[in-house]
Amino acid sequence: MLFTAEVIELSEPQRVASGTVRSVYTFPGQPELLIKVFHTPENRSPRKPLKRFAWKLFPTMKFRSMLNELNCEFLATLRLDKEIRHLPISRMMGIVQTNRGPGVVVERIAGPDGELALQIGRVLRDRKIDETLLSALNSFVKRMFDLHIVARDINGSNIVYGTRDGTMGCFLVDGYGERNLIPLRSMSARLNARSLEKQFAVFAQRAGLLWDPVQRSFSIPE
Ligand SMILES: Nc1ncnc2c1ncn2[C@@H]1O[C@H](COP(=O)(O)OP(=O)(O)OP(=O)(O)O)[C@@H](O)[C@H]1O
Ligand SMILES: [Mg+2]
Repeated sequence: MLFTAEVIELSEPQRVASGTVRSVYTFPGQPELLIKVFHTPENRSPRKPLKRFAWKLFPTMKFRSMLNELNCEFLATLRLDKEIRHLPISRMMGIVQTNRGPGVVVERIAGPDGELALQIGRVLRDRKIDETLLSALNSFVKRMFDLHIVARDINGSNIVYGTRDGTMGCFLVDGYGERNLIPLRSMSARLNARSLEKQFAVFAQRAGLLWDPVQRSFSIPE
């Protein structure tokens, strides 16, 4: 049987990465996929009293960020049509139930060595930025604008540098999807572009790159 109706057993050794809110596991028997699960249900209880109250009143609110993320990825996938390989986000394959809570199934982005791809922040820190890396970054930026991706947390740990289809590229793995009750950025490409520009400018500053807001591209300082 395909995994669709199973409760998937995850254990500690399968955990390959972890962020502030989610743990990332290899998908048992599906080496090309990962499962992301919120750390523990207890940790998920929001700290802000108002939010805690809202979650109690509307229990499905706790799935909101996951659903917004899926919505964002699905929309971009639909927009790309046959150009699917150019998706600047790791693909999202849906939701599964695991012994550690509901999880979202995503494409595993690997590095050239087959290991989990490195976070771009680390790559930019550890090695000299060459033309290949710069061009991967700039293609990523172009696709983010062209596809009207609503990203809200573009930083060195939410972008990974790895391969898809044998080609190295940059992929957003977290920090996307509309958050606002009135989805202004989803409705207006101009507003969205303004926000992306701001985020890429900050990213450039932290990475020691130059950001050109007219060309919407990074360059290496002389
Ligand atoms: N699809 C993927 N392919 C490869 N590595 C990934 C993928 N998704 C996540 N990772 C790795 O796992 C780390 C944590 O994942 P993620 O950012 O989704 O967790 P999070 O808890 O939501 O993050 P945050 O701390 O930013 O809230 C990433 O920084 C990245 O290194
Ligand atoms: Mg993250």
